[in-house]
Amino acid sequence: ADGASVAALVIGTGYGGSVAALRLAQAGVDVHMVEMGMAWDTPASDGKIFCSTLEPDRRSYWLRTRTKAPLNYFLGFPIDRDIPRYTGVLDAEEFGGITVYQGRGVGGGSLVNGGMAVTPKRENFAAILPTVNADEMYNVYYPRANAGLGVSTVDPAWFDSTEWYQFSRVGRKHAQRSGFPFVFVPDVYDWDYMEQEAAGTVTRSALAGEILYGNNHGKKSLQKTYLAQARATGRVAISPLHKVTSVAPASAGRYTVVIEQLGTDGAVTATKTVTADRVFFAAGSVGTSKLLVKLKATGALPNLNGEVGRGWGDNGNVMCGRANHLWDPTGAHQSTIPCSGIDNWAAGGAFAEVAPLPTGIETFASFYLSITKNPNRGQFGWNAATGAVELNWQTAWKQPSIDMAKTIFDKINAKEGTIYRTDLFGTYKIWGDHLTYHPLGGAVLGKATDNYGRLAGHPGLYVMDGALIPGNTSVNPFVTITALAERNIDKIIATDL
Ligand code: FDA
Repeated sequence: ADGASVAALVIGTGYGGSVAALRLAQAGVDVHMVEMGMAWDTPASDGKIFCSTLEPDRRSYWLRTRTKAPLNYFLGFPIDRDIPRYTGVLDAEEFGGITVYQGRGVGGGSLVNGGMAVTPKRENFAAILPTVNADEMYNVYYPRANAGLGVSTVDPAWFDSTEWYQFSRVGRKHAQRSGFPFVFVPDVYDWDYMEQEAAGTVTRSALAGEILYGNNHGKKSLQKTYLAQARATGRVAISPLHKVTSVAPASAGRYTVVIEQLGTDGAVTATKTVTADRVFFAAGSVGTSKLLVKLKATGALPNLNGEVGRGWGDNGNVMCGRANHLWDPTGAHQSTIPCSGIDNWAAGGAFAEVAPLPTGIETFASFYLSITKNPNRGQFGWNAATGAVELNWQTAWKQPSIDMAKTIFDKINAKEGTIYRTDLFGTYKIWGDHLTYHPLGGAVLGKATDNYGRLAGHPGLYVMDGALIPGNTSVNPFVTITALAERNIDKIIATDL
């Protein structure tokens, strides 16, 4: 409520924010979480909380009047459609050279993502977070994060027999015939539930085209894991449809936080001011960066250092499809949850997840999301004329990612006598190089903050989310974001409270 005073205010309810809230509450601290998106805990008139990918309605996108599907063409035809403007669950946020997809709602990205829960190979860790003790991460914090998130792997015997992963088995065959290591990718989806979906004994979610706009069953989003535990402490309150717009020093080392309450049309319905002893920025790489860059530039947090807004990367995301021969159908029935990948990180700088194309018809397409070692880094900056934070990323900066992905797919195409699909991202366009699902950086650990996420210049302010990671994780990022948050909050509780 307006004028309230809280011990710990957490901005955002994604991975970083959920870890911070749970551990602070367990340490006896009262926590208030502020989330700009909706609660996503009540079914709509169709009985479902979320809409499916094939039938997007107003629940799909954050304040858009037309969908903006990541895979925006099929057979050369655009597939986007008009929708009513609403505070939907997936934000396709457009910057100059890139569209950044993010989850909006209680649970953040865990509501919309594929649930792939990958711990990076230890030999790659030093390149990701060079100042972090890897022994501690691999002995304590990665295991803690995997347990807290409920990570597990598909049963290989079921994988080999179910029609729902035929697309993955074709991906495996082609990878192995070209000599690439093929790996199973762990996930937070409940695999027992998925097997029951296939058997027809429970309501289908992953096997009913649900992904990107939420899963109604099966996926263990943060609402079912960290946030459920946090709520059970009785010390955590969450305010959905509330957006933090300012944080500034108050008296006695405390902070004044300005919060706008939003209607489901995005309009501001109230403005509230609260005071907090400590503020945890967990608004995601983009959300935290936008706040910090604005607050530094406008003088609200004058002591932040010049690293704020820097070191942003796209985790090297690039997509492509391959056109298979008629004897390699990928299946009309595809699970929306990817469970496998091709690892050419060491030799070519790319890890490619074998992704579904759950269209409901046979496409003869193999589809891949590659995570690559793209060295390019963007920077957020304040545009005083427009009063907005901008990102200086350029589409051409994806070229190293395309080159790295080609180390896998040119070889497979040569071996199989196949070609790239040119109809998935436009007409005669091979590479999906216009987007990222994995924004990282903007308040990098050890640069904008100290080695535990404490922001420079303002004691009591912390960064807890993907903004801490300098642009790349070598694999899908949320396990690393969660493990790093576990590490940092441990230190903060032990020494600052
Ligand atoms: P996260 O983005 O989760 O949470 C931030 C929260 O803060 C959001 O809920 C947001 O609404 C809120 N917020 C922002 N600004 C605010 C403000 N000013 N006031 C109040 N609230 C504010 N990763 C992976 O490891 N495996 C995978 O399979 C996938 N797949 C995938 C698919 C798709 C479609 C997307 C979009 C993303 C993925 N990801 C993924 C990425 C993963 O979801 C992402 O890295 C994490 O959610 C980031 O966690 P954070 O805690 O950094 O922020």
